[in-house]
Amino acid sequence: MKVNVKNNVSWVGKIDWELRKFHGNEYSTHKGSTYNSYLIMEEKTVLIDTVWKPFAKEYAANLEKEIDLTDIDYVIVNHAEIDHSGALPELMAKIPDAPIYCTKKAVESITGHYHKDWNFNVVKTGDTLDAGNGKKLVFVEMNMLHWPDSMACYLTEDNILFSNDAFGQHYAHKHLFNDLVDKEELFTECIKYYANILTPFSKLVSKKIEEVQSLGIPIDIIATSHGVIWRENPMQIVEKYIQWSNDYQENQITLLYDTMWDGTKRMAEAIAEGIHKADDKVRIKLFNVSKSDKNDVITEVFKSKMILVGSPTINKGISVAVAGILEEIEGLRFRNKKAVGFGSYGWSGESVSKINKRLEDAGFAVINEGLKLTWNPNEEQINQCLEFGKMIA
Ligand code: FEO
Repeated sequence: MKVNVKNNVSWVGKIDWELRKFHGNEYSTHKGSTYNSYLIMEEKTVLIDTVWKPFAKEYAANLEKEIDLTDIDYVIVNHAEIDHSGALPELMAKIPDAPIYCTKKAVESITGHYHKDWNFNVVKTGDTLDAGNGKKLVFVEMNMLHWPDSMACYLTEDNILFSNDAFGQHYAHKHLFNDLVDKEELFTECIKYYANILTPFSKLVSKKIEEVQSLGIPIDIIATSHGVIWRENPMQIVEKYIQWSNDYQENQITLLYDTMWDGTKRMAEAIAEGIHKADDKVRIKLFNVSKSDKNDVITEVFKSKMILVGSPTINKGISVAVAGILEEIEGLRFRNKKAVGFGSYGWSGESVSKINKRLEDAGFAVINEGLKLTWNPNEEQINQCLEFGKMIA
C-alpha cells in the first residue's frame, strides 16, 4: 500500500492490526501499531526507514510494485531498532551497494544486529543530502531519544519532519493522518507512549525541542515512525511533549497494590475513601497490579502527583507483581512525585519499609513511614486507613 503524504512523498509502511505486545512483552499495544516507512521521489529516490522484520518480504514486494528498487539512491535509517530496520536485510540483498545514511551509533547498532558490511555514510546534525528539485534533507541527531543512534530528518520545501519514534504512538488505523482518527484514542496512545518510553529522557526531550525551535524552520507535517502522521496542527503534539517533559502531573492520586486474602485490598479501598472524603476533587485510581496491564498502570503513575503502593508481606518481602511494577517505575525515573507504602501482614511485616525504600530509590518523595496493619483490618483499622487517606489528601 502506498499513500500520498505530500507532493512526491509517500507512506510505504505496514499497518500491524494484530500486534498486542511490543518490545518482546514489555509494552502492551491494545490497538496494534504501524511501522511507517517513507518514499521520496524527487530527482533522487530516497527511502526513509523500513518495517519490522516479520513484514520484511511483504514490504519489499509492495515496494517493488511501486518502484524498481535499483532506482533507490539513498536509504536513510533514522533509528536502528528492529521495528524500523528489520526489512534492511531483505532490501539490501536486492540493492547491496545502495548508500545508507545514519548516525555513527546506528552503524554500531545495525552491524550489531545484522552483521553486514553495507555502504554506511555517517551523518551528523546539520548535514544535508540533496533530494533534487531544490529540496534537501537535513539531519538532526536525537541521541537517547530514545536510543543512542536515533535521529530525525527534515525535508525542505515540503517542510516535513521525519521524527521517527518521537511524537509517535502505537495505534493501528486505516486513516494515516491525525485529522482522520479518533482524537481520544489517539491521545490516549500518545501519552501512554510518552509515559512508558520517553519519561527517562524528559530533560533531553525539552532540550531537543528548544534546539529545533531555535532553528525557526517551518514544520507543516510531522511524519512519525509509528501511528499517525501529524498534518493538522502538527505542533499540537510538540506542545504536549513540552508539557509531558516538564515534570508532568495532574490532580490525581493512584493506588497500586497486590493482595493475598484481601487485607491489603481493603486497606487500599479504605485509604481511597479517606482521600475522597477529604478532597472530592482529586481523581483517585486503584489498580491491583497483579490483574492490570502494567503499561496502562505506568501511564496512570505518569499522570499522578502521588502514588501509594501496597503489598502484603510475603516471605519477609513484597509480592512479585508489586516488585515488578516498582522495577518498571524505578527505570522510568519519574520526577516531582510523592509516594508512600502500605500493606497488611501476619507476623514479620517487612513489606511497607521495603516498598518505601524502593520508592525512594526510584526518586519519589516518600512522605512518611507508611501504614502497615496486621491480618485483615477490623473496623478500627479501617478507620485508621480512612484517617491515613485524609492525611494523604
Ligand atoms: Fe520504534 Fe525505538 O523503535
